Amino acid sequence: MRYLPQLFENNRAWVEKMTGQDPDFFRRLAAVQSPQYLWIGCSDSRVPANQITGLQPGEVFVHRNVANAVIHTDLNCLSVMQFAVDVLEVSHVIVCGHYGCGGVKAALTGERLGLIDNWLHHIKDVRDKHSELLGPDMHMTARWERLCALNVIEQVMHVTQTTIVRDAWSRGRNLMIHGWIYRLSDGKLNDLGVSVVGSSEVESAYTKALAGLP
Ligand code: CO
Repeated sequence: MRYLPQLFENNRAWVEKMTGQDPDFFRRLAAVQSPQYLWIGCSDSRVPANQITGLQPGEVFVHRNVANAVIHTDLNCLSVMQFAVDVLEVSHVIVCGHYGCGGVKAALTGERLGLIDNWLHHIKDVRDKHSELLGPDMHMTARWERLCALNVIEQVMHVTQTTIVRDAWSRGRNLMIHGWIYRLSDGKLNDLGVSVVGSSEVESAYTKALAGLP
């Protein structure tokens, strides 16, 4: 291979390993995908959905963008969500943020990075909405971590507000939305306690999650 030979070498080794464990692995995967989970996470290279949850190819449908934002009019994210919920019929939508998120930090400090500043304005909106929870008396790291968590909670709310999720719930679909946060420094996932299974639970889950903020 002329370019990036190491990656092709890795790929061949991986195929060998997988077929060594299960000769039918790829044949079975190619036939159908029926993941139970939709993962909406950050693009950060250190937060790979499959590895940190121990899930195999075929087990999680993934959408990632900078700072795991769910924007009401983002056709990309909405299309992923609609396909996952209506066609693949996933049972769980997981919004997973992470401590140490550079996008969240830039939103917090107002650092200029370029075009991405426009995308990160959505996270600045979260910062401004919760300014009383991000007091200037807090240590910078604590404020940063808190905004990472607040951002997940707000993005979970956005998921619950979509027509996709509202319609699925009104059809009686068993669909649970979750908000998790991952810590880069120890590899551990934490549940932010904002899980909801129906529109009647959204408000109380939101209030409870804010009250129990780490
Ligand atoms: Co990030």
